[in-house]
Amino acid sequence: MKTILITGANQGFGKALFQLYSDKGWKVFPLIRDESALSGLKEINPSCFPILADLRDDDLIDKVTKVLSEQCDTLELLINNAGYVKKVEGALNITSEILEDHFKVNVSGIWNVSKAAYQFLIKAGHANIINVSSRRGSIEFNSSEPFARALPYKVSKCALNMLSVLMDEEFSKEGIRVIPVHPGKLKTWVAPPDADTTPEAAALKLYEWVTKIDANTPCKLYDLMNEDFIPW
Ligand SMILES: NC(=O)c1ccc[n+]([C@@H]2O[C@H](COP(=O)([O-])OP(=O)(O)OC[C@H]3O[C@@H](n4cnc5c(N)ncnc54)[C@H](OP(=O)(O)O)[C@@H]3O)[C@@H](O)[C@H]2O)c1
Repeated sequence: MKTILITGANQGFGKALFQLYSDKGWKVFPLIRDESALSGLKEINPSCFPILADLRDDDLIDKVTKVLSEQCDTLELLINNAGYVKKVEGALNITSEILEDHFKVNVSGIWNVSKAAYQFLIKAGHANIINVSSRRGSIEFNSSEPFARALPYKVSKCALNMLSVLMDEEFSKEGIRVIPVHPGKLKTWVAPPDADTTPEAAALKLYEWVTKIDANTPCKLYDLMNEDFIPW
């Protein structure tokens, strides 16, 4: 049985992924930060192994490692889906705290979950890490489509793209591919005004695409719904 860890599995894209991988018979580790979401996840998949943690926790690595080491030997797939966005009107209203909050979730949190998962991914022989990024993290896209209120989000997703490339350089030596993905314009809680895709449709697309990832797949920002790469 293949094993997957999905962060932010309580709602939106993460929940659709959780439902899909559960339906496909995978052993699923949903990472959530709010205990009240547990019963909903258990209703969908009574045999899942929830990890209760906030991506900003100082002991995040320990929390993830503890559950994984108790419940699995190998991990085939890590989907770093959880993401944080806070809209701020006016660039000068952005504080260092707001920037740090974005980096703690969208960059450090992803790095720490990946570090915790690494020893289990390695044991799978071939494994993948999907970092759910965004078109908004693309410098080239930004120059044509400004999103003035999402500056901290864009900066953090841009950093996540770089992190993904550097992780892939390092981890692919051990058979672990790391790829950043723009999931599409999803109709979720944080839906952009031009949202046109259900999280379920995007989850299915991701499920199918991940099966095709191999050593030759380029580590570039993959536009899931358009099946193309977005320039950095
Ligand atoms: N929606 C889109 O059109 C779109 C476009 C491009 C990229 N994305 C990316 O896709 C991913 C999923 O987004 P979504 O649309 O499904 O948004 P969403 O419905 O807001 O889901 C975000 C998830 O991240 C979790 N999360 C946020 N901060 C966290 C923290 N500190 N610790 C642990 N979990 C945390 C949330 O948990 P709580 O419920 O507990 O807050 C939630 O499960 C994100 O990375 C987002 O940036 C989305």
